[in-house]
Amino acid sequence: MTSPTPQQAKAGTARSGMIDGRFVRNTWYMAGWSDDVGEGKVIGRKILGERVALYRKADGQIAAVEDRCPHRHAPLSLGRVVGGDRLQCIYHGLEYDATGACANNPHPPGNLPSRAKIKSYTVVEKHKAMWIWMGDRTPDTGKIPDFSVLDNVPEMWTTKRDKMSIKANYELVVDNLLDLSHTCYLHEGILGNADTVESEITIEHEGDDVIAGRHATDCEPPGMWKMLWPEHPPRVDKFSRIRWMAPSTLRLFVGVCDIGKPFESGTGYHAIHMLTPETDRSTHYFFTAVRFGVKTTDETVNRDIQEKIGKMRRFAFEEQDAPVIEAQQVVIDEAHNTLDPINLSIDIGPVRYKRVLQKMIEAEA
Ligand code: FES
Ligand SMILES: [Fe+2]
Repeated sequence: MTSPTPQQAKAGTARSGMIDGRFVRNTWYMAGWSDDVGEGKVIGRKILGERVALYRKADGQIAAVEDRCPHRHAPLSLGRVVGGDRLQCIYHGLEYDATGACANNPHPPGNLPSRAKIKSYTVVEKHKAMWIWMGDRTPDTGKIPDFSVLDNVPEMWTTKRDKMSIKANYELVVDNLLDLSHTCYLHEGILGNADTVESEITIEHEGDDVIAGRHATDCEPPGMWKMLWPEHPPRVDKFSRIRWMAPSTLRLFVGVCDIGKPFESGTGYHAIHMLTPETDRSTHYFFTAVRFGVKTTDETVNRDIQEKIGKMRRFAFEEQDAPVIEAQQVVIDEAHNTLDPINLSIDIGPVRYKRVLQKMIEAEA
């Protein structure tokens, strides 16, 4: 993929409201869940337009290299792990180590062509996920986004570690998540309802993080919350607090509680949203959830709730969010005129994170 010039990118921003086609590179992106790559397994994943082959070495560590053999350009992700730490091309058997150096050429044996070298990437496993550094500066593991809420949590309180793909720029997905007013319309009945439209909106900054809050009081609980809290009072407060961690991961604290009581006294879940640009027009969307303030004690009921949260959230993203976001992308790309989106009070989160993102991209340029 060719990156646009700064002038083209600026024109794209003005035209669509997106920082179109440019990525922060010196940062961590989620390459996948840790269990996507079992022992001896290889997967191919496109990240920021680059094809990457990820495999697990015999020592348990993940290796990531360019997913293209320099011989005849076969994807190395079709190959297999040999000798514990090398990736063998499926086509004619060249082998590469985790640094991207050719470690074996059978044609003839011992002759290592100087151009048989591929790019390698640093990958770290943390919070049950694989994090890849796509930039050319020294990786800083202290900057991996904090998803410690996923660590050491009983399996019963977490939902499936799921993933899907959205055919749109990742910014449209971040916009969707940092403005949760859409839950009252797009997810009406499941995640929001007419009572939750009118909400107090708050915005905070912590370093580069942007945190958008919504608090609606005296509401009928939407369907998800009735399911989580079978003995719920007829009217509740509904709250959400979503944290954007640059460039594209979000952690949401969402639930319901007795009217006027602290949020922590209620019940809900930490909703995890990890977005990784596949290209400038497609996004890997990884998600899961961890319950808090669990008010149900029966194990069968809790198992049922665990499965239903996972299924309802997948339904909401796949059947409700994705079609709108993908259609937005088509409309934006088809526009012949300048698009200058209207900003409403609900857009404070998206407006603020875009400022931070723009600065990061400019700082790298
Ligand atoms: S294409 Fe990989 S060894 Fe020939
Ligand atoms: Fe949504």
